[in-house]
Amino acid sequence: MGTVPRATRAAVAGVERTDLADPAFWRLPAAEQAAAFAGLRQLPTPTYFVERPRSLFRAERGFHALVRHADVVAASRTPEVFRSAPGVTTPEPPRWVRALFGDSMVNLDDPDHARLRRIVSRAFTPRLIAQVEEDIHCVARRIVDDVIAHRPEDFVRSVAAELPFQVICAMMGIPEERRPAILAEVDHASEHTGVQRPLRQRIRLPGRGLRALARMQGMVADLGRERRRRPTDDLISALVTADVDGRSLSYRQLGAFFSLLLVAGVETTRNALAHGLHLLTEHPEQRALLLADPDAHLDGAVDEIIRCATPIIQFRRTLATEHTLGRAQLARGDKVVLYYGSANRDESVFTDPDVFDITRRPNPHLGFGGGGPHFCLGAPLARQEMKVLYRELFTRLPELRSVGAPELVPSSFDNRVRSLRFTF
Ligand code: HEM
Repeated sequence: MGTVPRATRAAVAGVERTDLADPAFWRLPAAEQAAAFAGLRQLPTPTYFVERPRSLFRAERGFHALVRHADVVAASRTPEVFRSAPGVTTPEPPRWVRALFGDSMVNLDDPDHARLRRIVSRAFTPRLIAQVEEDIHCVARRIVDDVIAHRPEDFVRSVAAELPFQVICAMMGIPEERRPAILAEVDHASEHTGVQRPLRQRIRLPGRGLRALARMQGMVADLGRERRRRPTDDLISALVTADVDGRSLSYRQLGAFFSLLLVAGVETTRNALAHGLHLLTEHPEQRALLLADPDAHLDGAVDEIIRCATPIIQFRRTLATEHTLGRAQLARGDKVVLYYGSANRDESVFTDPDVFDITRRPNPHLGFGGGGPHFCLGAPLARQEMKVLYRELFTRLPELRSVGAPELVPSSFDNRVRSLRFTF
């Protein structure tokens, strides 16, 4: 551990042993991770962690951990200092990958980011979200029909992953027959972010995630070409056809945007839905409250699920200039990591932060980011999907519950659920 004085660290029990840069930390039980973050939040300055020590040939690499609500908000809302380029995920995408695939908007700063966000925001206006609502209802109804007919065992595969994927495909205008091939590539691509794979697998499968991404982007670029020739009323047509200011996406940008939607929009919503079912099962009194009056409690339940589950654990920023954050002096080029899950348990903002309470008001969680120019574009869509699906499930299957603990995928990037058994 880095810059915190030894005496201060020793005063906060257990913090001495915490190492957020060590993949082993992310395999600890959730309660141990939460206790470590609670310790870090008590320290007066953000803690510095070394990812790769200095050697004869290479400079040291490390990051300052922003674990308090106020610090995550400040960094998110000061983009001129806390830059998203060269990348917000860990590890940063290498330059050649960005050149080949087209940088996705999360990794860009203004004015490039603003230009791209203006184009893709067309998909997320309240009017378009209202149009998508019918799709969401249809898909949710079909999923519940299938659950009743086939009684699958795994909630993630049969319910939680299915809804956001089908909704994004419907929005984009991906024909039904091409969806299974795209889904297979998404599964490959997303398994390779922020997860420490065994060495043997890394050697045997170099660039497997990248190849999957390239194949998927190729499929979407093909559709883009078809839609430019014969536009329909879907999102791909809107994105590749110039709008009133004459701006549209290139095929490369279209592929990058679609990958972002799939990884940012499908994985996150699927994990939130699965964690949500488990939270509601583990807290029968909250479940009873929700089922007794869904109109009154669905909004609160969805936000509390996102606060407690925090589907995206962290994003990274790079300092454009020197900066003082609280009592910490950050230098130009320093990396900081924004820990959304820790901010969502900050005891100075949330009363009883470890309690799951669907009536919590206000609930200023940072599950969709800390505000600022990169705030989640899909937040209204994700909330809508979750509300529609839970309503459909609990109305038709009021005995629905998870069985046993969710099988989690250890990751420092997202709070991923591999499978969750369920019964009704
Ligand atoms: C529960 C579900 C979701 C969670 C927890 C979530 C979380 C996040 C977070 C933490 C960020 C980064 C914010 C920042 O850097 O300030 C983000 C960005 C983004 N999200 Fe979501 N997201 C969810 C669902 C979705 C959905 C359904 C979509 C689209 C279909 C979506 C599209 C995006 C996009 C495009 C960005 C990048 C925005 C930008 O860089 O300007 N997300 N999301």
